[in-house]
Amino acid sequence: MGDGNAYHQAPETKAAAPTGCPVHATWSPLGADYLADPYPQARQLAAEHSIFWSEPLGHVVVTDLADIEHVFTNPDIYASTNVQDPIYPLCPAATDVLGADDFDPVAVMSNRSEPDHARIRVFTRKGFSNRRLKTLEAYMRTRATVLLDAMIESGSPAEYVGALAFPLPAEIVFRLLGFPESDDTMIKQWCVNRRAFSWGQPTEVEQVEIAQGMLDYWRYCRAFVAERRENRADDFTSELLDAWEADPGPDRDPEATTGISYREVESVVYGISFAGHDPVTSLLCNTLLCLLPRRDQWQALIDDPSLALNAVHETSRFESSQISWRRITTQDTTLGGQDLPAGTRLFLNFASANRQADVFENPDVFDIHRPEAAQNISFGKGIHFCLGAGLARMEARIALELLAERLPSLRLVDDQDYTYFPNITFRGPEELHLAWE
Ligand code: HEM
Repeated sequence: MGDGNAYHQAPETKAAAPTGCPVHATWSPLGADYLADPYPQARQLAAEHSIFWSEPLGHVVVTDLADIEHVFTNPDIYASTNVQDPIYPLCPAATDVLGADDFDPVAVMSNRSEPDHARIRVFTRKGFSNRRLKTLEAYMRTRATVLLDAMIESGSPAEYVGALAFPLPAEIVFRLLGFPESDDTMIKQWCVNRRAFSWGQPTEVEQVEIAQGMLDYWRYCRAFVAERRENRADDFTSELLDAWEADPGPDRDPEATTGISYREVESVVYGISFAGHDPVTSLLCNTLLCLLPRRDQWQALIDDPSLALNAVHETSRFESSQISWRRITTQDTTLGGQDLPAGTRLFLNFASANRQADVFENPDVFDIHRPEAAQNISFGKGIHFCLGAGLARMEARIALELLAERLPSLRLVDDQDYTYFPNITFRGPEELHLAWE
């Protein structure tokens, strides 16, 4: 960890506010009120300043949708190299664990700059093509049906995260990569820990546990890729290995502009298994959190299931499972009238941008008929646009179609407390209790 293209870099020492930037001395996305409901604060903050410095976070916060899109579409000026890094420095004991000689995943997509990012994405894009998604749809529907049958069978009320929202996305992405079913429980645990590592503020004891989990997980990915190297199967990992064999890129020439290295194949597997399921679990829950209390909207979906995809877009806008992302400036620049020196860390606040009144009419109204719902920024934009956006939306659409058809009386259990894992980016309830007649 720490050098060049390492997957996780140690964070820089604490930075200071850029000259002239409005400063918020106390606001942090880790505040208890913000974690419980970010939207009132996000609106208030954006009304005060479209760009400001958060002292506790040590980042410049960008709230305006056009500014965020500008950042995403100018990757030479705003690099994504910091998006997987811990927000705060790690304790020495955790750094020691990750200092193991064989902990060496490299940045491959979300946190890799051009031209290498484009070189690698050529191969990963194929794995998530529309053709691949079409072939996955039937499998997804079958697995969702099996999980839903079991939930219905066990009776009302049910806890949706455990019953479907967690297992479904995990199974889909693990089967896509080729991981055997028998390893699912172990892998899921390692991936949950990653959320705290890069986006939370874990205690020193937790940091060491998480670091150990990440090391174990990296070793698991390496062993899995090594096994596939010997015994190919019909999965994405085998496709990546075929691509590596056809052109090992940097393994034959460090300056290669084509191909993919063996370490990059291992690192893609390491990265996708987390990215591919955690935010989808939250998306599945958030669709229901938005729809079920608004009976007119839920009924509209039951009456016309073709609205399911737009309901997913609207949920991604109104109650996204990802409410921020990060960037770092590579040179002195100006954004929204604010001068930013090279090395400024940016916190792009989707929670403000997705509720912006000049883009989304009546932004605080959840409306599955909304024509501009898909303009939300929750999957990013530009060269790093989420590789799995189509997959995530398909899973959420299928789950909604099935629930609307099978359980029209579905509702949220009254008076439940929603708990959100403390972190700056990912948002979804830890548990979601549902009931039906
Ligand atoms: C609701 C679910 C999801 C959300 C909200 C989400 C959101 C995002 C966001 C905001 C980015 C960064 C975009 C940017 O920097 O411009 C991203 C990148 C990425 N996502 Fe997702 N994602 C989701 C699901 C998935 C799934 C299911 C997969 C894969 C199976 C996936 C794989 C990736 C990858 C590989 C990248 C990096 C792409 C690149 O840099 O070229 N994501 N995602």
